[in-house]
Amino acid sequence: MSAQIIDGTRLATEMRTEIAAQVADLKANRNITPGLGVILVGNDPASLSYVTAKERACAAAGMLSREIRLPEETTQNDLLNCVEQMNQDPLIHGILVQLPLPRHIDEKAVINAISPAKDVDGFTPVNVGRMLIDEPCFLPCTPHGIIQMLIRAGVETSGKHAVVIGRSNIVGKPVAHLLMRKARGGNATVTVCHTGTPDLAHHTRQADIVIAAAGRPNTLTGDMLKPGAVVIDVGVNRIPDTSRKSGFRLAGDAQFESVSQVASMVTPVPGGVGPMTITMLLHNTLESCLRTCATTLP
Ligand code: GUN
Repeated sequence: MSAQIIDGTRLATEMRTEIAAQVADLKANRNITPGLGVILVGNDPASLSYVTAKERACAAAGMLSREIRLPEETTQNDLLNCVEQMNQDPLIHGILVQLPLPRHIDEKAVINAISPAKDVDGFTPVNVGRMLIDEPCFLPCTPHGIIQMLIRAGVETSGKHAVVIGRSNIVGKPVAHLLMRKARGGNATVTVCHTGTPDLAHHTRQADIVIAAAGRPNTLTGDMLKPGAVVIDVGVNRIPDTSRKSGFRLAGDAQFESVSQVASMVTPVPGGVGPMTITMLLHNTLESCLRTCATTLP
């Protein structure tokens, strides 16, 4: 079997076209432009590349993006002040503090400082809590992007067995919740595996859908799959490659060659989950702007 590739770039373009039309409509009818505030601390090349991609996507959708770039040695207090400045700025509807932050900064304190009403990453305790009890909230972008991908690729989740590899706050925990909730793209039976799981393959071989979010290349290989399973690869691993100008190539958590021989569908890296994550950030920023309009305009 050779798996069908779920083209994240194409699905993301489809959604971004819909978002851009709504942004244009807001501008024309209400003279309001959704705005995203981005804060980047330090010089991590991967973070810099993510932030650049997010800002470009904002501009392409007709949104405003404002960036604050701070040096690695920025104090926690200075960072908290920047977050507060964006909390107060009426032109900013969504705030994103790119993670990870330098080690001397308390990441939780910074996330807690973001106004839940502008938390388009869906990382604050208020939004996480609301998500868990199915109340209106901003859903975290990568998990929400994965669900949208499954829906738009025509993958049935209801009644299926989904295995999530990884238990991070950003991907593993929230995607497990979205897959199990009683909603479109959910209603699955979910198993969460992690570094404490003794026999990972025992679990993945029973899965109809595998979400690989371990952050380690080759975590999932073809022999660990049931024939016909759907594989969503969330990994973005930089593998040194001297034959490339950049000095590295990107690889997912799944071993693409063997997995694509057994799975029915698989997401590529790059060009899979990544573009969908950025798209859901645009979606949340637009949503936040629409909520502001609803509360401030007649
Ligand atoms: N670092 C890796 N993924 C993310 C994300 O989705 N949002 C933020 N803010 N930082 C990240």
